[in-house]
Amino acid sequence: MNIESEKSLKLFNSFGFDVSAEFFVSVSSVAELHEAICWSKQKSVATFILGGGSNIVFTRNVSGLVIHIAIKGIDAETDPRPADQIPLRVGAGEQWHALVATTLKLNYFGLENLALIPGSAGAAPIQNIGAYGVEIAERLNSVEVYSKATGDTLLLNAADCQFGYRHSIFKTAQGADYVVTAINLNLLTRDKPNTTYRALSDALTRKGYLRPTAQQVFDEVCAIRGEKLPDPQQIGNAGSFFKNPIIDRQQLDRLMENNPEIPHYPDKPGHFKVPAAWLIDQAGWKGHQIDNVGVHNAQALVLVNHGDGNGQQIAILANNIKKDILQRYGVLLEREPTLY
Ligand code: EPU
Repeated sequence: MNIESEKSLKLFNSFGFDVSAEFFVSVSSVAELHEAICWSKQKSVATFILGGGSNIVFTRNVSGLVIHIAIKGIDAETDPRPADQIPLRVGAGEQWHALVATTLKLNYFGLENLALIPGSAGAAPIQNIGAYGVEIAERLNSVEVYSKATGDTLLLNAADCQFGYRHSIFKTAQGADYVVTAINLNLLTRDKPNTTYRALSDALTRKGYLRPTAQQVFDEVCAIRGEKLPDPQQIGNAGSFFKNPIIDRQQLDRLMENNPEIPHYPDKPGHFKVPAAWLIDQAGWKGHQIDNVGVHNAQALVLVNHGDGNGQQIAILANNIKKDILQRYGVLLEREPTLY
């Protein structure tokens, strides 16, 4: 185990913020993770678990030990397996998009809508990644975790994970003790993609695909994302910065009095999801730049680092947007990435 001191995290977070870790270690097995946790206990320093770094805003240097999860491995269980299904065990440190591409090459279907999402496989269940009509929760059998408190490994089934919209047990106080070490997916052998998301089905229809294949869905999702979402390698960002708010009928009626054209989608009974991007866009924030940070000019839900920006500037910008949206529309936006 190689513990480094004062390590820059610039290349380890998708905003590209140049903060440092007091101590840093990259672990490639559960045994190494255990060793790192024991080291932190011995030294009485805090730990910070880092995956792909695509859902974190560092506003300051990290004190204690940053443990970078680099546990690899993609293993399919081909025999025995349930009809039409392929159980797949994936190490938490695998890169998500590369995994999606690999499964398609193997003719294992079901992840195609989740193409081009940055981050690692282990982070996928934490915020229950979702895009274009599919959430990871629908494709998961179980999640393998390590308990920092006890040093034990546990298997949580999908119900244990308490999945919701961009939510899971891992975001609660109880789940904060767990480190995801592997995920167990359940993929399909039938090429029957989900095209229920309107923007996706419209794009596929325009291309003339009446019965699109998973590969065509994958390509189209990549094309749509490529147009709207900035590539973190070029412009630092953490994807959607706010969750889409879920409001009740009364709130929607009030909003529609002045904004009859507001998009809204039925959610849980009596509730509707409205796009935070629409609210932020209408309020005039799209393309707004202050200091070295701003709101992306093609997707108002994405905050970006134009170069030398820092996490504090992002936090201030996010607060200003939040205040403005609350004042204008009476809707409270909730942040998606974690703030440190
Ligand atoms: N819109 C605007 N202005 C904009 C962008 C969008 O008015 O600048 C409107 C669009 O017209 C559309 C609506 O907002 O009616 C929805 O836009 P879009 O389809 O782009 O999706 P989103 O609601 O903004 C969510 C997820 C994305 C995911 C897409 C596709 C959240 C917080 N975000 O975005 O997830 O890729 O749907 O499923 O749920 C992420 O979490 O990092 C992420 C990118």
